[in-house]
Amino acid sequence: MMLLAAIGVLSLHLLFSVSYSSPPENPVSCGFRGRNCTVLNSYGAFSDRAICRASVVAYPTTEDDLLQVVAAGTRARQKMRVVTRFSHSTTKLACVDGEDGRLISTELLNNTLSVDRDAMTITVQSGVSLRQLIGDAAKVGLALRMAPHWWGLTVGGMMSTGAHGSSWDGQSGGTAFHDYVIEMRMVTSAPPDQGYSMIRTLNRSNFSELDAARVSLGVFGVISQVTVQLELMFKRSITYMNIKDSDLVEMVEKHGDRYEFPDIMWYPSQGEVVYRMDERVSMNISGSGSYDSVLFEAKDSKYLAFQRSKEEELELERNSEEICTLARDVPALLYTLLYGLSNDGVKYSGYPVIGNHSDLMSSGGCLDSKEDGLATACPWDSRIHGQFFHQTTFTIPIESVKEFISDIKTLVKIEPKALCGLNFYNGVLIRYVQPSFAYLGIEFEGMEFEFTYYRSRDPLMPRMYEDFFEEIEQIGLFKYGGLPHWGKNRNVAFINATEKYKDAALFLKMKQMFDPLHLFSSKWTDAVLGLGGDLTVDTEGCALEGLCICSKDVHCSPIRGYFCRPGKIYKAARVCTHL
Ligand SMILES: *[C@@H]1O[C@H](CO)[C@@H](O)[C@H](O)[C@H]1NC(C)=O
Ligand SMILES: *[C@@H]1O[C@H](CO)[C@@H](O)[C@H](O)[C@H]1NC(C)=O
Ligand SMILES: *[C@@H]1O[C@H](CO)[C@@H](O)[C@H](O)[C@H]1NC(C)=O
Ligand SMILES: *[C@@H]1O[C@H](CO)[C@@H](O)[C@H](O)[C@H]1NC(C)=O
Ligand SMILES: *[C@@H]1O[C@H](CO)[C@@H](O)[C@H](O)[C@H]1NC(C)=O
Ligand SMILES: *[C@@H]1O[C@H](CO)[C@@H](O)[C@H](O)[C@H]1NC(C)=O
Ligand SMILES: *[C@@H]1O[C@H](CO)[C@@H](O)[C@H](O)[C@H]1NC(C)=O
Repeated sequence: MMLLAAIGVLSLHLLFSVSYSSPPENPVSCGFRGRNCTVLNSYGAFSDRAICRASVVAYPTTEDDLLQVVAAGTRARQKMRVVTRFSHSTTKLACVDGEDGRLISTELLNNTLSVDRDAMTITVQSGVSLRQLIGDAAKVGLALRMAPHWWGLTVGGMMSTGAHGSSWDGQSGGTAFHDYVIEMRMVTSAPPDQGYSMIRTLNRSNFSELDAARVSLGVFGVISQVTVQLELMFKRSITYMNIKDSDLVEMVEKHGDRYEFPDIMWYPSQGEVVYRMDERVSMNISGSGSYDSVLFEAKDSKYLAFQRSKEEELELERNSEEICTLARDVPALLYTLLYGLSNDGVKYSGYPVIGNHSDLMSSGGCLDSKEDGLATACPWDSRIHGQFFHQTTFTIPIESVKEFISDIKTLVKIEPKALCGLNFYNGVLIRYVQPSFAYLGIEFEGMEFEFTYYRSRDPLMPRMYEDFFEEIEQIGLFKYGGLPHWGKNRNVAFINATEKYKDAALFLKMKQMFDPLHLFSSKWTDAVLGLGGDLTVDTEGCALEGLCICSKDVHCSPIRGYFCRPGKIYKAARVCTHL
């Protein structure tokens, strides 16, 4: 959130950006002798705020270790789930049911195993971070084409959630990280006569297995190692353009067709949009530009806590006037800070910024770990009471994009102040995605819209203009059939989700084959995959946290003036409206 910076003190950025910080906490903590464990994500709360427990956590360092860990779990018929070093999913992927389950952490499966320069491939263990992978490939002049902006994700985590980059250029491969995986080794349970666990090699010899396992939500077993197709290092040229959003509907497709690495940040209440004009250029062009996203830098913890308390105060007062005033400066401020770009790693001397792909694709300054007693941290680090947000992220098919953007514009016309708060989380992030072969990967050419917005620490406290956000969520997911991002979103986003995938039945068949005892599934994955159980609840205030679509007033907050009403433009929507 850029709330205070937006008050106009540009130099705050310089004061508060530092080159070290407190590394994120291990998401798993255990009691005596490593028993009685609790797992959380880095934000300190899953989408339903469940406290997830497990009886034990294992930290295998090799594939052999992993085989033994899975064998022990299988022999005991224990539920098992994988947790990563960072745990950045808002969804409950890292949770194991009940209290006697087994967590398997990939924290120490963090080695790069080999790099084949001729074949242009890299083989890594599944706990290797995106940052490590990019770095190790770059050391030998190779590059991973597509990845998310945030590099504090692991290889196994990116695959299990379908994490992706942004491009419509289908010539050079897909958009998601998992589209570049050419072989993976997975440890699954096995019958007693095979020692209760086994290694499966999934590769191009059998595409149905590989494509099923590319995006698996962790329900097949544990990914042990992955081989990724790289290419020769190349350069990119980036220019940002900040303009009015009046012709966004006409521009949005053209922008995607024109650039190989396009991106859009949209500030709908402000009527502004920022185009990232980003393309591949010849290696001969000089430039050593780099990117260290302002959004992912370590910030002073007191400053972050102060920003948050200011935001909470304005929300409580329903002071939309003030929020809009503060929000107005954010796009210009970020533009001035170049979002973290520099021409030579230090200074900025003008667009375009040209540099190696590996230095421009992803970043995550706040991961840089020198313990400083929490003086600085990632903005969302749950230990410092900083940012706390919901994230609604879905991909809609290209033929609906223009209509969807027009819908949002219509909502803004109805209440111009409704979406101001998005600015504090850098607006709506729009990315371009291609269909994938993965059974649970993106199904069509489309665009992903990401909305990050205020979440109260109190689950029963409504948000200002929450009707607008809920309507946008339901328009995207149900009117246009948007595909929810598996690692983000609130529970409502997954209602009927598997019906949107043509290969969902094949996926489930493969799941049955890989894990016949159903040990790697949880109640949450069962509900998401349509295997039974409820994704939503019928409790007081459930709609406030996306744990239901309201159908009764009590699902909202009648005592605070929020009632369940139809949407303003999408009449099928049911949203908590302040009357
Ligand atoms: C496990 O931990 C929880 C909370 O940390 C505690 O309430 C509970 O008593 C512990 N259980 C055992 C068996 O130690
Ligand atoms: C793997 O993780 C451990 C523990 O976090 C760390 O000490 C080690 O340096 C990491 N190894 C690599 C290659 O990054
Ligand atoms: C960019 O990549 C090339 C090829 O690997 C390498 O020779 C060069 O040193 C890199 N430039 C920078 C600034 O790292
Ligand atoms: C796939 O893996 C199997 C088992 O390791 C191996 O025999 C086969 O050659 C691999 N196929 C390809 C295309 O890499
Ligand atoms: C691919 O794997 C599936 C599942 O293990 C199996 O049913 C199928 O026969 C395999 N196909 C080939 C061509 O080996
Ligand atoms: C880049 O440089 C190489 C070798 O110096 C040359 O062969 C090539 O034609 C140049 N490419 C471009 C696009 O200028
Ligand atoms: C989900 O599917 C069920 C059964 O087809 C249907 O009744 C329900 O309306 C759907 N929910 C949404 C939100 O689309």
